Amino acid sequence: MAYEKIENKVRDTIKKYNLFSKKDYVLVACSGGKDSTTLAHILKKLGYNINAITINPSIKARESSSKNIENLRKFCKENEIRLYEYSFKEEFGHTLFGINKILKSKGIDMPYCTICGILKRYLLNKKSKELKADKVATGHVLDDEAESVFMNLLRGNIELLSRLGPISGVKKSKKFVPRVKPLYFCKEEEIISYSKKKKFPVAYERCPYAKSSYREIVRNELIDFQRKNKKTNENIIKWFLQILPDIKKEFEKQGEISFCEICEEPSKNKICNACSIITKIR
Ligand code: FES
Ligand code: ZN
Repeated sequence: MAYEKIENKVRDTIKKYNLFSKKDYVLVACSGGKDSTTLAHILKKLGYNINAITINPSIKARESSSKNIENLRKFCKENEIRLYEYSFKEEFGHTLFGINKILKSKGIDMPYCTICGILKRYLLNKKSKELKADKVATGHVLDDEAESVFMNLLRGNIELLSRLGPISGVKKSKKFVPRVKPLYFCKEEEIISYSKKKKFPVAYERCPYAKSSYREIVRNELIDFQRKNKKTNENIIKWFLQILPDIKKEFEKQGEISFCEICEEPSKNKICNACSIITKIR
């Protein structure tokens, strides 16, 4: 019964926000964690045309990272999902630590998770475009989204706020594979319980390098708020979805999407963040 509740929630979100149809080829961005594994499992069960894609930042020191990949391979095999694997080491010639070290030697001190996020998003778009995917589905849950909304609100970053929502980004572009979030209305605790009951071979801990990030501070504040009001994150999302269409419209008015001069991926600046990192490490 509890399974059905979550599966129905996912199905309803896909339909309500028109995330994709059964004709679309969807790649699920998998990390080997509980959220993306649960998402791949549910989408497969609901009969969608999916495969999985994973980007390994090649963190040798992080034992859970290689364990996650092993788990993911096992899960995909058992669920008859094809897994496309890419790594920082193969694509950029360096591990995440290596990239951080080179940047530091050039006077740029960028946290691991920031580099990781930028380069993962870059490869995810590049590879899913090569694989001719119509959409990329990510395992973001309601609590992740509430954190992003609250964080960008506190930073006053309305442009980043406008790119949130069940479908990421503002404008459509042939060069960009839209990212969608079918778990948008699922609470983290629901996914943990689903994943545990199904005995998925996944790790439950968060990235250890995220501990010092601003997101983590916001996350802890929200956990505190939720102790006083359990519906805090749901209310943030409810409010956000009411104002999102207006924010999106405002940014859509501001003309065509621009592209990175090097890789032609969508970018606000002449050179995207990923290319700027890649140029510096070569
Ligand atoms: Fe990849 Fe933290 S290092 S998410
Ligand atoms: Zn670029």
